[in-house]
Amino acid sequence: MRSVLLGAGSYLPKRVLTNAELAQRVDTSDEWIVERTGIRERRIAASDEKTSDLACTAALNAMKAAEREAKDIDLIIVATTTPDLTFPATAARVQAALGINQGAAFDLQAVCSGFIFALATADNFLVRGQAKTALVIGAETFSRLLDWEDRGTCILFGDGAGAVVLEAQEDARERGVISTFLRTDGRMHDLLYVDGGVSETGTIGKVRMVGNAVFRQAVEHISAAMLEACARADVSIDTVDWFVPHQANQRILDGVARRLGIDVDKVVSTVGVHGNTSAASVPLALDTAIRDGRIKAGDLVLMEALGGGLTWGAALVRM
Ligand code: COA
Repeated sequence: MRSVLLGAGSYLPKRVLTNAELAQRVDTSDEWIVERTGIRERRIAASDEKTSDLACTAALNAMKAAEREAKDIDLIIVATTTPDLTFPATAARVQAALGINQGAAFDLQAVCSGFIFALATADNFLVRGQAKTALVIGAETFSRLLDWEDRGTCILFGDGAGAVVLEAQEDARERGVISTFLRTDGRMHDLLYVDGGVSETGTIGKVRMVGNAVFRQAVEHISAAMLEACARADVSIDTVDWFVPHQANQRILDGVARRLGIDVDKVVSTVGVHGNTSAASVPLALDTAIRDGRIKAGDLVLMEALGGGLTWGAALVRM
């Protein structure tokens, strides 16, 4: 039994926030942001746009690409750090809005690694026969967690959503999720966190980050996770057709590629125009590269991410 990736979809809010606009709010410049991060612009959700709205549009686009309807979906996992409400799960709202009246729907919290964790979770449900067709969504209104006076964080993040449809198939002919690797090290909790929450402060809080420390951890752990996902599948990293990384910083993408001897032309990069959209970043980049014709059926794709927790992981998928 394999979890075959039948289709992807995404959604970006209309409002573009440029580096030049950010430079009017905090002491920074377009040159500094581009040189240190590769980010030129990011999208910001409208005040009446919720995470579930972004998730639903991305999901509908993925279902269309996968040629699957509401009646086919029996599992929804929404990876998000920015749920509509503390509860119920954003996934429950998505389920109702899409007219899906069967199966389970829940949220998963692994911050920027959320989509990789959700993909691995859905894969386990499907190969165990506990669901047949899953919507795996990464969706964020991350801008609502930002401290717009902190130049070390507010320049990095943006809003958006991406989704895939996974289906359990017995005769998958090499297609589907081949291996996944997930890891959390809670000792690095304080490198990247939000300083508020239901139980500790009763507030929403804002993102806090030790940027340069996260940077170093990212290059090291992402590289190791990619090698581990390949090793688990007994596949050489040289045979991977496309790398779809979490879009945190172009220098992290370049650092990992250098470390592993990867051809940068095989690395899908959308960070310049999306910024870091947390759990949405990997499916947004995946959908971009499928729709522009780079990623094709039969290609071997390696996705990876690192985020707060710290969490990190990788997933190897034959399209
Ligand atoms: N504009 C101008 N200067 C800035 C700035 C900004 N937006 N943000 C930070 N600086 C300054 C710092 O204050 C510091 O100044 P100082 O030397 O006077 O103290 C200087 O730039 C260097 O800071 P440092 O944090 O060492 O810079 P950096 O090269 O590591 O770049 C990040 C900062 C945040 C871009 C980088 O560390 C990064 O991307 N880290 C990973 C973050 C990440 O990906 N997080 C999410 C993971 S999911």
